Parts: sequence; C-alpha cells; structure tokens
Amino acid sequence: MNLILKPARNGIKGELQVPGDKSISHRAVMFGAIAEGKTTIHNFLKGEDCLSTIRCFQSMGVSIKEEDNVITVEGNGWEGLEEPKEILDVGNSGTTTRLMLGILAGRPFHSVIIGDESIAKRPMKRVTDPLKLMGAKIDGREEGQFTPISIRGGDLESFDYTLPVASAQVKSCIILAGLQTEGKTIIREPLQTRDHTEKMIQQFGGNVTVDNRTIEIIGNQPLKGTDVFVPSDVSSAAFFMVAGAIVPNSKVTLTRVGLNPSRTGIIEVMKRMGASLQVEEVSSTGEPYGTVTVETSELTGIEIGGELIPSLIDELPVIALLATQAKGKTIIKDAEELKVKETNRIDAIVKELKKLGASIEATDDGMIIEGSTKLIGGQVDSWGDHRIGMTLAIASLICETDVVLENSAAVNISYPTFFDDIKKLLSRIDG
Ligand code: S3P
Repeated sequence: MNLILKPARNGIKGELQVPGDKSISHRAVMFGAIAEGKTTIHNFLKGEDCLSTIRCFQSMGVSIKEEDNVITVEGNGWEGLEEPKEILDVGNSGTTTRLMLGILAGRPFHSVIIGDESIAKRPMKRVTDPLKLMGAKIDGREEGQFTPISIRGGDLESFDYTLPVASAQVKSCIILAGLQTEGKTIIREPLQTRDHTEKMIQQFGGNVTVDNRTIEIIGNQPLKGTDVFVPSDVSSAAFFMVAGAIVPNSKVTLTRVGLNPSRTGIIEVMKRMGASLQVEEVSSTGEPYGTVTVETSELTGIEIGGELIPSLIDELPVIALLATQAKGKTIIKDAEELKVKETNRIDAIVKELKKLGASIEATDDGMIIEGSTKLIGGQVDSWGDHRIGMTLAIASLICETDVVLENSAAVNISYPTFFDDIKKLLSRIDG
C-alpha cells in the first residue's frame, strides 16, 4: 500500500506510550509455553512477528488466549509441546525462527519451519551449526543455511561455545537448547547483546549465571509460569525520539520505555550528538523502564561503532536519518550485521534517504552521512522492512514536500499503530 505523508509544519508535541517490546513479547510466549502453569503477559506487542510466535506454539498444542488485552499461556512444561501437524510459519520473524529452533532441537518430534521471502534469505547456519554440535538432527536449504528448515529433536549434549557473531538470537537459541540438556552449557559472546532471555529465565524461577560476557546455564531446571509486564519497545520509541529532535518546534514525552542497558545505545548516541533528551527511570528491577523526553535539538555528527553497535543495531536506520540533520560527518562502522536483517539495511536506507536529498554513502560495514541537509520529498519504498518504512515516514515530517511511501504496511511487523501515533502527536497542535 502507498501512503502519502505530509510534512509536520507545526512540529510534533505530546505524550505517547509506544507498544510493547518485540523481543520481550516473543520470549514471554516461548517461556510461558515451556514453563509449568499459567503465564499472563501484559502490554504484549500484537505485531505480526509476535503473532507468528503465538501461532507456532498453538500449533504445538499450547493454549494461548487473549482477553482484555492480556495474553494467557497455559504451559505444561517441555513435555507439553506436541509434534505440530502443520508446517510452522514464522512469517517475517527472525527471532521466532532462531529461538524456536533452540526449543525444537530438544523435543522428540519432527517439525518444519518456513517463512516469507525475507526469512528465506536470512542466515540460519549461525544457529543450525551449534545445534548440530549439541546433537540436533537438523537440515535446511543449502546445507542448513536457509529456510525451509526441518528438524527432528532429541537428546542434546551441553557444550562450551564461543559465538562467532554478536547475536542475541543465536545466544538465546543456544540457551533454550542448553536448558534441555543434562549438564552445563557455557556460551561466550564477543560483545554484550540484549539479555532479555537471561532476565526471563530468572523471572520464571530459573538460574543463569552471567560473568563478563560468559553465560552458564544448567539443563533440566524447573521453570514456573508467572506474570510478565512488557515495557514499551525502546526500538519503537526511537522513531519518536528522533522525530522530537529533528522536527522544528517539537517536544515529545515517551512513557514506560524499556531501558535495559543492552538496548539503550540510541539514548547514548543522541546525547553524544547533542540532543536535548531527558531520561527518568521509573523502575530499575527486572526489565527497567522509564520516561524519555526529547525536544528539537542542535545536533553534531559523531562516530558510532564497536561495542555500542549491538545495543542500537535495530536503530541504525533511524540514526542515519538523525545524522542527516547533524552538523558535520557521522560515521557508522562495525555494523555489517545490518546487511542480513529483514533487508540489507545499509543498501535500503542509503538508497531511500538519497532519494529524499540526503548526503549518505554506504561503506563495507556501515555508512557515512554528511549533514546537515534539507530533505526534499518524493517517492520512497520500505523494501518490505518495517524499520526502513518507519524511518522514511519520520523523514517525511521534515521534508519540504509530500512523501509517497510504498509498501507502508510493513510497519505492522513491529508497530501496527505507528501511523495513528504520528497523527496523535500532530493533532495536539493542529487541532
Ligand atoms: C533480537 C536480536 C537482534 C535484533 C532483532 C531482535 C532478539 O538480532 O536485531 O531485531 O530479540 O534477540 P540478532 O540476534 O540477529 O543481532
């Protein structure tokens, strides 16, 4: 669907609570399914990706229902999962694919995973290889590299594994497989990645030790259903943080934003660029959350790379937009992983922001942006990637003329109410 987006001539103002965190919503369903007893999930993200996770676990016989906006999962432990009669369709969701494979690897039945065109291009060897080392019988197109993947789970052995890439999905896949072994699984990560899986194990009454990027997990521990409160997704809030900073005459307050330090690289970057941004932490236990307020700001270009990258990997497209409005050069490096997301996000964002007049060039591991540049308007494409689509929609707010966004429905993957929320912030002033 093509959408015509108008510039925000009077700025954006107001308070907003963006939808629940995607990573945490997926994990809450999965842990609810493998735990014993009832789990309730509050502020669950009803985006297409997380709904794919629900459907997959329903296909394995788990009762998952929604009432009054609360999701209830009736877990019967690992043994409660049944062989699915149909193919498990993960849609566009890499998190569903990789984490679920860690669960399926230890289940004594056969299953097949497929997804959409984008999933079929995403690298799966990074999970199928370690799962094979643990003893899983798993195969996929091009020797386990791509979906469709078929898996016959069974007894797994614990091991000591160093992750070749900094990926929370790979780490979480191995943790979930490790939970089904007799021994102790050790996972070493090259850089700190989001730790929602580790936090969730503790919330479900389990044990995991983390010391200096080494995670140790003992298999066969009991997990008990619980009540999960999902904070709002900092990756969704990021679009409005950037909008607040770059649209003239704006002030936006975002409430209940997840502030897990493994996810808040965007806040650090915006502060370093000179954004007027305040954070007030409301709760610091479990998954911390708080209020973030951003105002129109004078920004300066910076270099972004190294350890910071995993903590803002999903925000890099919108950070590229932010950099178009910062004085001087912004260099994004060490971000090759962007090439294997829902699209090649380096190619996608460089090509589309260029159409709007940005001075941006791709590099081997990121991009270089020169600012600040006035953005014009024009016709752009989301490439079917939710975060590219939302970045371009935020860009339209500062364009001189209208923007036509092709394939705008991609936003439904992680933020179905995105365009309504933009309108809410516009209407505070306009009427
Ligand atoms: C996610 C981890 C990241 C992130 C993705 C969600 C997760 O992917 O980009 O949107 O929930 O674990 P990688 O593990 O591939 O870095």
